[in-house]
Amino acid sequence: MCGIVGFTGNQNAAPILLDGLKKLEYRGYDSAGIAVLGEEGIHMVKASGRIQNLVEKTQDGAALPGSTGIGHTRWATHGEPTDVNAHPHMSNDEKIAIVHNGIIENYAQLREELQAKGFQFKSDTDTEVVAHLMDLYYEGDLKKAVLKTISRLEGAYALGILCAEEKGRIIAARHAAPLIVGVGIGENYFASDVTALVAYTKNVIYLEDGEIADITPESVTVYDSLGKAQEKTVTRIAWDIAAAEKGGYDHFMLKEIMEQPNAIKSTIEPRIKDGEVVLDDFSLTDEELKNINKIMITACGSAYYAGSVGKYVIEDLCRIPVEADLASELRYRNPLVDEHTLLVVVSQSGETADTIAAMKECKARGARVLAIVNVVGSTIAKLADDVLYTWAGPEIAVATTKGYTTQVAVLDLLAVYLARRLGRLDDQRYRALVKAIEQFPSLVQRAIDLNPNLPALAEKYHGYNDIFFLGRNLDYAASMEGSLKLKEISYLHSEAYAAGELKHGTIALIEKDRPVIALACYERLFDKMMSNIKEVKARGAQVLAVALEGNRQIFAEADDVIFVPQTEPLFNTLPEVVPLQLFAYYVARANGCDIDKPKNLAKSVTVE
Ligand code: G6P
Repeated sequence: MCGIVGFTGNQNAAPILLDGLKKLEYRGYDSAGIAVLGEEGIHMVKASGRIQNLVEKTQDGAALPGSTGIGHTRWATHGEPTDVNAHPHMSNDEKIAIVHNGIIENYAQLREELQAKGFQFKSDTDTEVVAHLMDLYYEGDLKKAVLKTISRLEGAYALGILCAEEKGRIIAARHAAPLIVGVGIGENYFASDVTALVAYTKNVIYLEDGEIADITPESVTVYDSLGKAQEKTVTRIAWDIAAAEKGGYDHFMLKEIMEQPNAIKSTIEPRIKDGEVVLDDFSLTDEELKNINKIMITACGSAYYAGSVGKYVIEDLCRIPVEADLASELRYRNPLVDEHTLLVVVSQSGETADTIAAMKECKARGARVLAIVNVVGSTIAKLADDVLYTWAGPEIAVATTKGYTTQVAVLDLLAVYLARRLGRLDDQRYRALVKAIEQFPSLVQRAIDLNPNLPALAEKYHGYNDIFFLGRNLDYAASMEGSLKLKEISYLHSEAYAAGELKHGTIALIEKDRPVIALACYERLFDKMMSNIKEVKARGAQVLAVALEGNRQIFAEADDVIFVPQTEPLFNTLPEVVPLQLFAYYVARANGCDIDKPKNLAKSVTVE
């Protein structure tokens, strides 16, 4: 959601800004713009729609000569996605240009105040107040003006600022929205995340909330909100440009699906040593562990569905009550959370606004917070007491795949680890579970290899407008993710139901030829699922079943079958979800959808 990039150096800024914005496309956006400081002041170009429009309008950047600039992809919150509302926004005298990610909550008061002082507003955005405040406070020192401006802002912001009177200088400011600084040789950068920078530098500085970075081609100085210089470490990013490119695949989503065996391997391998689960990053003492009487898992979107898998597995193995809560709900209820609660926060980006808010709420009530996060240095990683990184590498497609499966893998590891420490697993069962986890990478690869017929199945089912997913227990948790994948990238109406709920409403919608995807891998409840399949078949549904490899019974009812390899029943969701991701991918492809950038969706939802 909204991407920011900034450059200062000795080469033309515009092509670098455009390239950075392309890398940030995956975050979700509906307009884009850049501003470059040239010989005759700031030159700004904005375009609604895809970055390609901006590329064309600027002749690949050639129309904006100058070696200092800022750029932005906007995901509309306040005001429609028009050229006027696109960022950058400029002060009336065109001295200051700014880009912003986040929401300025007190913008209405500020706008009134600034209008009373004679400032003219051109857009409907909350952001424009920042450009005018900067103008109001600028007296020849950009840093001073930024500090004064941010002291007036309430809400969340990552800001990039350019001033016509300060050649070669850009300032970045961060509060509750992601922003990093890239450190190069004779040139420096800022960006919302490392994907925009990795082609240019692997050295980054993670900014903390309240900090500003004063950047020239030769220097980066970071200050706190009071203007005091801060000591910062330069971190080397572990992955390279190939990780942020398609590598021969038609879409990032397909590449990321295929990367899952490796991503899961990177996630689990360092955490299993000599047959033992070792979670060095989780510093809970025995005393603290005994003190925990409840585990709560919170997240949004697919991360929440991963958390729903975790709920079943952790509760089953640890015999501790486990709740999985949507962060957007948890943050506004009055939850029973205290120092006896372990809150597990799950997030690929580590920047999801609702997840951060729910986490802060529970932390304030005394909960111990363990985060399962993919992005190093993200807000959630910083706020948590402990972090288990998923090590999935960069995920670019908006619809998560390897992000989700690595989250599930970590939750499975966590379940086994906690159960062992709590004395709930005997040696034999523990060894069997660890062994099953060690096989996750090959299991997921087999789930891919077993189903070469998925494009054909997608051809058969892609034309239907409504699809239902059914499952029980862990199959239900997996069905929610399978249904979300299909819905978000192919725009089919798809809903997941706990199969036991079928008779409480959904069955009214089952009619001739209605596709039903029935997940029947959870063996303990296989017969129950078969009954549900019979019920929908009796009403004319076409059933695409998902069943364990070797299961022949399923053919008695199902029209089509996706087979998944066998594993420990508690870990079925991993091999089960992977063919469903592929099914969604091929359906979306058959429907001609923009798979990596589905309409209206954002990768990183940094506003509420
Ligand atoms: C967005 C993404 C989803 C993701 C969700 C939570 O909706 O499109 O793929 O599951 O946000 O994001 P997080 O980064 O917290 O896992």
